Amino acid sequence: MRRKIIAGNWKMNKTPAEAVSLAEMLRDRVNTDNADVVFCVPAIDIIPVAEVVKGTNIAIGAENVHYEESGAYTGEISALMLKEAGVKYVIAGHSERREYFGETNTMVNKKVKKILEHGMIPIMCCGETLEQREMGITLEHIRIQIKKGLYGLTADDAEKVIIAYEPIWAIGTGKTATSGQAQEVCAAIRKTVEEIYGSKTAEKIRIQYGGSVNAKNAAELFSMPDIDGGLVGGASLKEEFEKIVNY
Ligand code: 13P
Repeated sequence: MRRKIIAGNWKMNKTPAEAVSLAEMLRDRVNTDNADVVFCVPAIDIIPVAEVVKGTNIAIGAENVHYEESGAYTGEISALMLKEAGVKYVIAGHSERREYFGETNTMVNKKVKKILEHGMIPIMCCGETLEQREMGITLEHIRIQIKKGLYGLTADDAEKVIIAYEPIWAIGTGKTATSGQAQEVCAAIRKTVEEIYGSKTAEKIRIQYGGSVNAKNAAELFSMPDIDGGLVGGASLKEEFEKIVNY
């Protein structure tokens, strides 16, 4: 039985002071008995938010990392820095980073490896555009993202990775994928993992759905056989996140 994992992706929201207030509010409400709960917060909020959730089962996630160990990469943050600050999960390859910052599958693969090397857990994102869906190439596109993203990982490492399926047309649009659409792609992701690593790894790997998840649709989405939780944007910045976690 795979344990559910529900992560909030705060994106570029909340100053350190605002982040502390939000984290305190959510900390006192969310129930971590039945699911892993993660707050993926802006880099500058990591240390204060880690302090807020200290002693609870809520984990801290980062929204990005650089794939090199250290060096002349002005403005970037290394895996070692995140690890020392208390980060457990790191998002890699979010569609917003792919679209606005030119992140490629090759970069995502390097990030995934660097995150694992430092004992953290990657949340590796994939997802198709509306155009790709309309052209009927969703599964082909996702399979390439998964195969390139996991390339060179051992089965032991691959089973630690969380894969987040986030159709781009559903992000921040209020237009959620139907549970059938989400399940279809998540099942195809698991099948792809099985082709590479075999059924043991495929059964273990956790796959989230993301894209306009809210308190109303969470239960149906998370009850699908291949959906092991969610990556939540807008609704993770509100009290509503509690309802999603306690779906
Ligand atoms: P929304 O939940 O705001 O659609 O964002 C989804 C997302 O991008 C999470 O990473």
